[in-house]
Amino acid sequence: MSHAERLPRNRTYLMCPPEHFTVEYAINPWMNTEFAVDAALAVQQWEALRATLTDLGHEVHVLDPRPGLPDMVYSANGAFSVDGTVYGARFRFPQRADEAVAHRAFYADAGRWRFVAPEHVNEGEGDFAYLPGAYGGIVLAGYGFRTDPAAHAEAQEVLGRPVVSLKLVDPAFYHLDTALAALDDRHVTYYPDAFSPASQRVLAQLFPDALLADREDAEAFGLNLVSDGRHVILNTEASAMGRKVRDAGYLPVHVNLSELKRGGGSVKCAVAELRP
Ligand code: ARG
Repeated sequence: MSHAERLPRNRTYLMCPPEHFTVEYAINPWMNTEFAVDAALAVQQWEALRATLTDLGHEVHVLDPRPGLPDMVYSANGAFSVDGTVYGARFRFPQRADEAVAHRAFYADAGRWRFVAPEHVNEGEGDFAYLPGAYGGIVLAGYGFRTDPAAHAEAQEVLGRPVVSLKLVDPAFYHLDTALAALDDRHVTYYPDAFSPASQRVLAQLFPDALLADREDAEAFGLNLVSDGRHVILNTEASAMGRKVRDAGYLPVHVNLSELKRGGGSVKCAVAELRP
């Protein structure tokens, strides 16, 4: 497919500036508490990401950062919304628990959402992805490290969409959004070895034309991307992945998010999509 055929759709996103960003606890293999982060640089890089999204014509809402919640910049983990319904997050680790409260307040203030508080542990868009154009609208859901599989059934009841459970097996890729991304409404890219053999078969059956990434792409956080269906925002380190998405007909747009990688996240982690 040529670039001209890959059409963008305007999106609404929610981001939270890394003003209080630190690595003071380690809850994934990327975090090293002995290595100081540069919060000022993180904010600069975050601003550039936000500007990239708004320059592409997307609407970006900003969540007020709260002191004492150093991972709040990873706004994708705070909830998961589909067609005006928000399935709230419930974090695996107590250090992040209050982020769910801040996200809930955001949706309550915005007014137009139906918010459903979860019973089961789930980390929002970290482990849930929505493909509106695949099979009439399906949710892909990861488990193995953070989200409890019971939350997948709960999400299906809340959202009324089929939820396909996928087992993550590599601790380096602890959230679904580090191993798989939606390139548009019905196409995905993923790193097969991040999933169990059975889940790899499920993905191959559902998405025979998926763009496959390799370990190097995944380690560069090349799957932690945000796409509007045409422009694919990736971090600068993921240059090989950028070439792959270009060959598939998308337009890669690279941003430097070196500081956020120290917390174990990149572009997608920092950008929640709101689906009113
Ligand atoms: N330090 C955060 C954690 O381990 C990073 C979250 C990254 N977010 C994401 N959507 N993968 O929880």
